[in-house]
Amino acid sequence: MKQKQIKRKRRWAWVLFWIVLAALLTGLYARFVEPNLLVVRRLSFQAEGITADCRVVFFTDTHFGEDKPVDSAKQLAERINRLEPDLVIFGGDLLDNYARDREQMDLELLREQLSGINAPDGKYAVWGNHDWGGGAARIYQEFMESCGFQVLKNESLLLEKYQIQILGYDDYLTGDLEGQLPYFAEGVFPLLVAHEPYTAELLFNLPEQALMLSGHTHGGQVGIPWIARQILPPGSGGFVRGMYALDETEESARVYVSSGIGTTRLPLRLLSPPEIVCIDLKKPA
Ligand SMILES: [Fe+2]
Repeated sequence: MKQKQIKRKRRWAWVLFWIVLAALLTGLYARFVEPNLLVVRRLSFQAEGITADCRVVFFTDTHFGEDKPVDSAKQLAERINRLEPDLVIFGGDLLDNYARDREQMDLELLREQLSGINAPDGKYAVWGNHDWGGGAARIYQEFMESCGFQVLKNESLLLEKYQIQILGYDDYLTGDLEGQLPYFAEGVFPLLVAHEPYTAELLFNLPEQALMLSGHTHGGQVGIPWIARQILPPGSGGFVRGMYALDETEESARVYVSSGIGTTRLPLRLLSPPEIVCIDLKKPA
């Protein structure tokens, strides 16, 4: 009888040991491995209205600073250039907290790396909540422009070569979406960029062929579905990551929500690795 009890105790001790070990290894992976990965998500999208195929590379939420050193921008720029994009789009949240990190951060190095990203048909960016907050509002636009990005704040432009209308929106949480928003041009492909995916729900007359690119959610950072949904920041609008149709119909406008590059609050990522998004916009056959 006593021996049976000892055996049972030993079995439980082993179970506990494996649980603690698994939790420890998962924690180490989430802290030191996954945040430093960089995957490329490839998408192909039939873009109604475009007149030539176009490769768009979208990256967002870099959150450079304490937990994402600016030297990692070198790898980011190299990976983007290797994809040979026609257009490059940045979805906001460049720095995690400018006021906290500016003494230690080498912005010249960051400028050099982002300037080295090549896109023959243009580099565009929008504002995120961390670009307005943490004292970054004073430098964001000028900094991005110095790296060759045109910053779109409730503005649009037409790329005649492709007949793509790029519409860039201000940040939903901290910017101004109340004023005059850009109109959708007719007979062209609308490519929208807004930091928070919830912005898509606020727009009227969104053309059914439209594609919106967003970030902000970081895919929950911890990509276990139930946990991710509990910790999504305001402005996520229930979107986590990946491609969404805005309504049930087949001809619905779509939103791609990227899990972004960096981290905020906790320097952890699990099942939601940093990503660059490479989208081939295809002229319908
Ligand atoms: Fe972010």
